[in-house]
Amino acid sequence: MGEKMAWIKAHHAFKSRWDRTDNDMCRNSMSFFLHKTIRGDFFSSYLFLLEGLPLVKLFTLTSEIINGEMQFYARAKRFYEDVPATEEGMMGDFLELNSIDVEASCGFLRKFVGGPGKADTEYALDCGCGIGRVTRYVLLPSFSSVDVVDMMDNFLFEALSYIGKDAQKVKDYFCFPLQQFTPPIKKYDVIWIQWVTGHLTDKDLMLFLIRCKSSLKDNGVIIIKDNVGRQGCIMDQNDSSVIREIEILRNIIAKCNLEIICAEKQLDIPEQFVPIWMLALK
Ligand SMILES: C[S@@+](CC[C@H](N)C(=O)[O-])C[C@H]1O[C@@H](n2cnc3c(N)ncnc32)[C@H](O)[C@@H]1O
Repeated sequence: MGEKMAWIKAHHAFKSRWDRTDNDMCRNSMSFFLHKTIRGDFFSSYLFLLEGLPLVKLFTLTSEIINGEMQFYARAKRFYEDVPATEEGMMGDFLELNSIDVEASCGFLRKFVGGPGKADTEYALDCGCGIGRVTRYVLLPSFSSVDVVDMMDNFLFEALSYIGKDAQKVKDYFCFPLQQFTPPIKKYDVIWIQWVTGHLTDKDLMLFLIRCKSSLKDNGVIIIKDNVGRQGCIMDQNDSSVIREIEILRNIIAKCNLEIICAEKQLDIPEQFVPIWMLALK
């Protein structure tokens, strides 16, 4: 709708010209508008007919700015090939945020696990786990077993030693890109997805969340923790990721028939950082 309004505005901006019966200008402006509408509607119909997705237009944001899905994923892979398998590497060189991040995550997690009507503490999945920083500090202290998934085999290999004394509680190390990964049905109490949603296109993130939903046990919860932009969707060419504003994330989540049961902003982050949010979904 926003896009449609923009083109109507553009059309009317030329009113002084087409009003004076400049038929060509009017026709061109209209055909531009029609072209955009048809393209948008075609995309929605395609999703509906071929992939059975709701006939409500998705934000086309990532598809507009990533310059090709294959490139987007390939560039991220190349980026992580040069990232050291260390805590600094996982934190994008902002190691000082580690303890602030971990403390807030543990507090957030406690709201949803271990108690009547809450998620069980049996099994968690860490998505885009890297070397297992979240697994080590946030998940293993609460869960009997954890599975981890990441696209980089060297990070998973490092996780074997980095996780330390509780490593025997980590059962499966899945080496998969999330856009191709289907977690087992009804297996997990908590699925944690931190600092990796921006590496997925809107459509792949939505489809992945739908698969995660099927992978939750009763009372299970999905937790997303990620950078959230102030407006729109911004591409980071460096690591080939996008930062979405919260409304876009909410929209994608709603399309998965998931409900945000709690949303909390990470506190004590220096001003110059992009805001970080924690979202619990059911
Ligand atoms: C910034 S690190 C965060 C690691 C970890 N979640 C943490 O908070 O410490 C991003 C991680 O996501 C992984 N990643 C990026 N794109 C991915 C994809 N499409 N599928 C699976 N993992 C991906 C990277 O290999 C890397 O380990």
